Parts: sequence; structure tokens; C-alpha cells
Amino acid sequence: MNLFDVYPLNDVTIVKAKGSYVWDEQGNQYLDLYGGHAVISIGHTHPHWVKRIEEQLEKIAFYSNSIKIPLQQELAKKLGEVSGKEDYQLFLCNSGAEANENALKLASFYNGRKKIIAFSKSFHGRTSLAVAATDNKNIVAPVNETDNVVFLPFNDEEALGAYFEQHGKEVSSVIVEGIQGVGGINVASESFLKTIRALCDKYGAVYIADSVQCGYGRSGKFFSHDFAGVNADIYTMAKGMGNGFPVAGIIIAPHIKPKHFQLGTTFGGNHLACAAALAVLEVIRGEKLMGNAVMVGKYLREELATMPELKNVRGRGLMIGFDVPEALGPLKKNLLANHKIFTGEAKPNVIRLLPSLALKKKDAEEFIEALKEEIAALHATA
Ligand SMILES: Cc1ncc(COP(=O)(O)O)c(C=O)c1O
Repeated sequence: MNLFDVYPLNDVTIVKAKGSYVWDEQGNQYLDLYGGHAVISIGHTHPHWVKRIEEQLEKIAFYSNSIKIPLQQELAKKLGEVSGKEDYQLFLCNSGAEANENALKLASFYNGRKKIIAFSKSFHGRTSLAVAATDNKNIVAPVNETDNVVFLPFNDEEALGAYFEQHGKEVSSVIVEGIQGVGGINVASESFLKTIRALCDKYGAVYIADSVQCGYGRSGKFFSHDFAGVNADIYTMAKGMGNGFPVAGIIIAPHIKPKHFQLGTTFGGNHLACAAALAVLEVIRGEKLMGNAVMVGKYLREELATMPELKNVRGRGLMIGFDVPEALGPLKKNLLANHKIFTGEAKPNVIRLLPSLALKKKDAEEFIEALKEEIAALHATA
């Protein structure tokens, strides 16, 4: 049997990982500023995470949600403490798309409405409603197409206000990334998020904060939406939540009450996933990783901003993007080939940095040096 070929791949096989570094089959070491697509939050194979999972594996890995799983309650408590949303309620699932799917569905159960507002350049996942709310026609199959999703321009308060004024009573939810990831590191303005909050309050709609990529401390705050100083009704999370162990969840404000059987899952919240997620929160708190994300992120953005060749340096914490001009087109590829540094991208010309929140300043310095060298080399050959 062959694999279903859905991605173009880098010609690298990684066999070992530690902290912000990974190694290939030949023993070559790479600096990982991509984190397997923003997933590695506390660092690869963090010893506390490994120990927590190993110890849990010896006891019990899985039983379904038909029994009590105290680890889920422990996770909810710790997540409340670290995120500051202590009065919210946790529902666990397995992936970012699934988290958004559940959030959109729960919002519709809550207010009995159908319309969803999403924004230009959004990415919310690949399952039916999540992909319908994603602004990329190429990944929406005919069966996913629905009139229930309306796209409005990102960060455009006027357009949002005008839509609510006309159709406000039909709107079930507004779903928005605090910092768009796949869309190219576009930060939602604080006043845009405040306007979403105010309009959702006025018209009885649900504000869903997609924190799958920008959440879990990556921005320097637990949820990047928190920069606006207003709460969402539902936050969705995945990626960094398990540091590579598949676990996801939504947290739900207290005014949205649970009803038996409306939401459910077989694998969500299993013992092993909870152990991994608990280890992540313990390390984020114990090693003050959000503070580190602020500090190293600031250093990176300031250094990047001094390079005249790179345009529009943006982001928060360790979620950083910049535009690469056409003349430096091979920059990302060359960083990997010549300097063994993994970075992320967003089409057509954005380099995205999504490293572990434990990235050390010296690693950031190594990247900046490599970048300068590579830009000079590309100029020399131009
Ligand atoms: C903002 C956002 N939401 C949702 C998703 C979907 O997550 P998953 O791939 O875990 O389904 C992603 C994945 O990149 C994302 O960036």
C-alpha cells in the first residue's frame, strides 16, 4: 500500500528531538523554529512530559467517557488557573478542527441560530463546518459548501457592524483567530475584538476565539484574544495543548449550560491525553514559558525589523511573521539546506516562526546570524 500523497515534503527524516532541536537519520542537527506547525509548546521530548506520559501508560491509557476520569477534572482546574478562566467549563476532544466544529455546533444549540461569521484569510480546520468557515475555496469540497457561513473582511469593524445591523438576529456565532496563522500572521486589532464582543452581546451571538494556533501561551498571554481585555464565550485549543500528543478542547463560559448528549467523543479526554496536557501546563507555569515567549519574541522581532530586506515584521510573542521579497525567494529553503533551520511559511511569501515557547535567546541569535548570512549570499548571487 502507498500513502495518499496530500503534502509536498521536505526531504528530511527526523528520528530524534530534544528541546528546540531535532536530528535526522544521518545525525545532522536542526534548529526547529517551526515546532511541527506550532505544536511543540514546551520543547520536544521534555523530560517532565515524557515521565508523566510513561507513568500514566503503566497505569491505564484509555477508557471511554462512560466512567469518571478524575484526570479530566485535574486538567480543567489547572487550565482554569493558568488561563485565568476559572469559571469556564472544559470539553475535551482530539484536534483543532474538532474543537472548532464543537464550538460552532454548541453555539447553534445555545441560540438556535444558523449563521456563522468568519473572516478573510481565516483557517479553522478541515472538517465540515470548520472548513466551511475557512477562507480557502481549494480545500472546501462541494459537500461542505453552505450559505450558513458569511465571510467579512478581517479587522473591519464597519463591515461587521453593518452586517449585524442587517442580519444580527440570525447570527449564531462569530469565529475569529486572535492572530491568523495559516493566513500569514495577521494580528486581530484590540478594537476589532472588542467590537465583536459588543455586537455579540447586543445581538445574542456567541463569540468563538479560535486559539488553536495562537493560544496556549504562544503570544505571551495564554490566549492572544486576551490582549483586547474582553472575554470570548468559547475558546478553542489544540496544537500546543499536548506538545505533540493529540489532545484538544474547548472552554465554555458559564452562561452556556451543558445538556446531556449534545456533545460527545470516544477518544477525547482519555487518560493518556490528560496526562500529556497536564504536563504541558505544569511546565508552562513552572518554567515561566509565557514570559520567555515575550522576551525571546521581542528580541527576534526587534532584530528582524533592523533588516531592510525583510518587510512588515509582525506578530506577538513567539508567533512571528515577515514578508520575503521576490529577490530572496529561496530564503526559507536555503535556511534549511545551508543552516539546518526549520521555519514555517504562509503563501505566497511569508516566513512564519512558531518555535517552542522555551526557545533560548542563543538559539534566536543563531537564527538571526544565519538569516543575515543567507540574505547576503542571495544578494551576492542576484
Ligand atoms: C487557527 C487554526 N484553527 C484550526 C486548525 C485545525 O487544527 P487541526 O489540524 O488540529 O485540525 C488549525 C491548524 O492549523 C489552525 O491553525
